[in-house]
Amino acid sequence: MLVRNRFLSVDPYMRGRMNSGKSYVPPFEIGKPLQGGAVGEVIESRTREFKPGDAVTSSFGWREYFIASPEELHQVSRGIQPLSVYLGALGMTGMTAWAGLHLVEVRPGETIFISGAAGAVGSVAGQLAKLRGCRVIGSAGSMEKVQFLREECGFDVAFDYKVGPVLEQLNLEAPDGIDVYFDNVGGEALEAALSVLRVHGRIIACGGISGYNDEKPRPGPSNLFNMTTKRLTMKGLMVLDWLDRQAEFEKEVGGYFKAGTVKHKETVVKGIDKAVGAFLGLFQGQNVGKMVVELATH
Ligand SMILES: NC(=O)c1ccc[n+]([C@@H]2O[C@H](COP(=O)([O-])OP(=O)(O)OC[C@H]3O[C@@H](n4cnc5c(N)ncnc54)[C@H](OP(=O)(O)O)[C@@H]3O)[C@@H](O)[C@H]2O)c1
Repeated sequence: MLVRNRFLSVDPYMRGRMNSGKSYVPPFEIGKPLQGGAVGEVIESRTREFKPGDAVTSSFGWREYFIASPEELHQVSRGIQPLSVYLGALGMTGMTAWAGLHLVEVRPGETIFISGAAGAVGSVAGQLAKLRGCRVIGSAGSMEKVQFLREECGFDVAFDYKVGPVLEQLNLEAPDGIDVYFDNVGGEALEAALSVLRVHGRIIACGGISGYNDEKPRPGPSNLFNMTTKRLTMKGLMVLDWLDRQAEFEKEVGGYFKAGTVKHKETVVKGIDKAVGAFLGLFQGQNVGKMVVELATH
């Protein structure tokens, strides 16, 4: 098939692919096109599985057109618009949020703290945790984002981590502690969460964006011994491990999306020439919800 991409995804994990060395995905190669999530439409097909006009997601990424075979594409419904939702709430980042809550078995009545809460993963994680009957606290980097979390995503509490120490703000908002911490940023937020987690608390180790641009690894949290004294559990999350449950995720969260109980928020940057700026913007907090790049249709 010949596929024309309509939206490209830029994601924090791509930063890791710019370092050499072994990791869970191979590094980008100099002189080769970058890879990443994208959603587009089939223009021409020489297979029975797909026909022109079908909407598909793929992982070829930063390109306007490409040629692929059926097993390299995942068909999605055109009935759901904009198609960019398949890069966000109904795509990889939404599935990360969903998988994270499953990973530590979040239960009704629990208090969960989510860092990076106004981003693609965080904003969906918070909405899903609310639907599971949790009290949800989020941190994000501006008052606009705090307002978005409170007013549009239904967070019980949201605060700006840039106006004061995370630990102080968490102690204020959760004087009795938290049960679960959904970690998207690492660093100061992780250290604060270790302090306020209750006995038998759980941590979803999803991301550590506060350290992705560090040239040298930073020392770990100074209060890691809380793991022992409070018998905490910290589980590493890798969304790729959950692909066999993608249909289950799409059914559940797709249903919430259609019913309007989960909202997809996105920041759209237009033009492939703006993709690098959009990627860099992730590290400056320029996005509310999922950062996507929309490609011209002509
Ligand atoms: N484990 C997995 O399988 C998996 C899958 C997807 C994503 N992830 C991880 O999940 C996290 C969120 O990803 P996403 O796609 O949803 O990105 P995102 O949250 O939509 O975008 C990144 C956000 O990170 C925040 N940020 C940037 N620098 C920061 C810093 N120094 N300290 C605190 N926050 C900072 C910014 O928001 P503020 O304005 O709030 O600072 C920015 O908007 C990332 O760490 C990512 O690597 C993991």
